[in-house]
Amino acid sequence: MKIIRNIKEMQETSRKMKQKGKAIGFVPTMGALHEGHLSLIRRARKDNDIVAVSIFVNPTQFEAGEDFKKYPRVLKQDAALCKEEGVDLIFSPSTEAMYTQDHKTHVYVEHLSGRLCGKFRPGHFRGVATVVTKLFNIVQPNTAYFGQKDAQQAAIIKKMVEDLNMPLKIKVLPTVREESGLALSSRNKYLSVKEKKDATVLYQALNLAGRLIKQGNRNYQSIIQKTRAGISKKKRISVQYISIVNLEDLLPVKRVKGKVLIALAAHIGKTRLIDNIIIDG
Ligand code: PAF
Repeated sequence: MKIIRNIKEMQETSRKMKQKGKAIGFVPTMGALHEGHLSLIRRARKDNDIVAVSIFVNPTQFEAGEDFKKYPRVLKQDAALCKEEGVDLIFSPSTEAMYTQDHKTHVYVEHLSGRLCGKFRPGHFRGVATVVTKLFNIVQPNTAYFGQKDAQQAAIIKKMVEDLNMPLKIKVLPTVREESGLALSSRNKYLSVKEKKDATVLYQALNLAGRLIKQGNRNYQSIIQKTRAGISKKKRISVQYISIVNLEDLLPVKRVKGKVLIALAAHIGKTRLIDNIIIDG
């Protein structure tokens, strides 16, 4: 396994691999790898000749006052996990290399980026779309793998790839959860034992919403209210949003019908977590 820090070297390595007819599977990450990332890496390993993982804590997707500085950076530990999973290449550039003083170009996927989390993190998805575009141009993968836990991110990247005719496939794989139901996230590291226990109500609340829909409740407001009530029992949790939206445009459904995404964001103490499920109503 090779760790590449230089952009030109990464581009050149990918170019040579592709010249030899090798299919490159790519898993973009910000590091602090957990089973969620490993499930993407395993799938990439299964599908491709070469597996590349990027580890880069992208400053442009953090809002002012968010956790950019304290985001866990554990490259040695991540590299060991990647090696165990048979990763061929880790791309881990410096911030200065990715964003020179003169960096002026950004990618923004309209509409989708302003919904759900985008309402509370206005610059976030512009940062994500920009860095993912840069990473795709550098790594030049045939297929890139993302987790369903970041459903909005996945929808935005799919749209960006379609709109900008990027020559790769996007695969979105299921959320990996702890036994308690808590969705795996690098940010779970910030939670105390008590907060982690409390956080399990988020998935329970999503499942409650899912059950209500399955039982025939089609009333958006009533489902949201009952779901919120489930979470509000935990004093340390403050819900930022709960929404039931269409899978394609992420707009709230008026009456729940067909496949919908139930998505939420909440603060547990100082930690912001997101989660979602897809339900066929
Ligand atoms: O999902 C993440 O870890 C990040 O948003 C990504 C896609 C690696 C871009 O920085």
